[in-house]
Amino acid sequence: MAEENVNGVVYFELNTGAKMPSIGLGTWQSEPGLVGNAVEIAVKAGYRHIDCARLYENENEIGVALKKLFDEGVVKREDLWITSKLWNTDHAPEDVPVALEKTLKDLQLDYVDLYLIHWPLWKKTAGADPGSLSASHIPSTWKAMEALYDSGKARAIGVSNFSSKKLEDLLSYARIHPAVDQVECHPGWQQAKLRAVCQANGVHFSAYSPLGSPGTTWMNSNILKHPILTMVAEKLGKSPGQVALRWGIQNGQSVLPKSTKEARIKENLDIFGWSIPDDLFCKFSEIEQRRQLRAEFLVHENGPYKSLEELWDGEV
Ligand code: A2P
Repeated sequence: MAEENVNGVVYFELNTGAKMPSIGLGTWQSEPGLVGNAVEIAVKAGYRHIDCARLYENENEIGVALKKLFDEGVVKREDLWITSKLWNTDHAPEDVPVALEKTLKDLQLDYVDLYLIHWPLWKKTAGADPGSLSASHIPSTWKAMEALYDSGKARAIGVSNFSSKKLEDLLSYARIHPAVDQVECHPGWQQAKLRAVCQANGVHFSAYSPLGSPGTTWMNSNILKHPILTMVAEKLGKSPGQVALRWGIQNGQSVLPKSTKEARIKENLDIFGWSIPDDLFCKFSEIEQRRQLRAEFLVHENGPYKSLEELWDGEV
């Protein structure tokens, strides 16, 4: 997919024609009280893309930070890329526009640049009952997403956590093709098959957990300590985090690293103007692969996905 350089940052062109900054600040697990400050630091440092979601329960604090940045003239709305996501309880077609309105109100915006279906299943009740999960409705949820695109309130629409099969199913009937599939991807979970499916169909592949989410203890990830990453980092005089992000950019994917720390927010932006040479890049193929965010919580004997195999269609 076409790419372009704006102020030293690579942008990727989506199938809508819009250009999306290849690095966005992740906000999952960004604590209330810290996330607004992180957004301000990031935008002042040169980030032009913030990845949000209703589930993260911090969109209102991000909205306050964005308003301040606009009011102070630090950045214009049209120069920022804001993504948000439809939560699993909001998949009923009549709930989809209501959910986006709530997000827009919290973010204090008139539109989002990208709105994603967060997971490929509907949780019909908000409680913990896994038997209330359903998946057969994705075509009608997608129609409601298409209506948001038509209205201009979501300038691009896409999905998140869709396997190759689920993405291909959607592509087979969608009037408006998804612009993006946002999924877990880092050197320890490279997703070669899904990347190829995205590329073949003009769907932009976007990476969450691009550092392998080292702070999420229940995921037990230590990809930044992997000997291949530390070796490449040492050879290039970069940090393992920068190497993981640069690997993603060189694969043609956008990367969404989360941090609330100023030094790391800035470090993670310094991934342009240099590259991992071929002889080191090919070493990444030797890294053992394991999905970290396996999402056992969406698997249940009475739900649409009775095993992780079914949820991820074998890509696990
Ligand atoms: P913190 O917010 O304290 O900086 P991911 O984006 O893959 O989910 O990873 C996010 C986690 O990685 C957070 O715990 C974040 O912690 C940490 N982190 C962010 N940037 C870096 C970096 N450059 N090196 C190491 N850890 C980082």
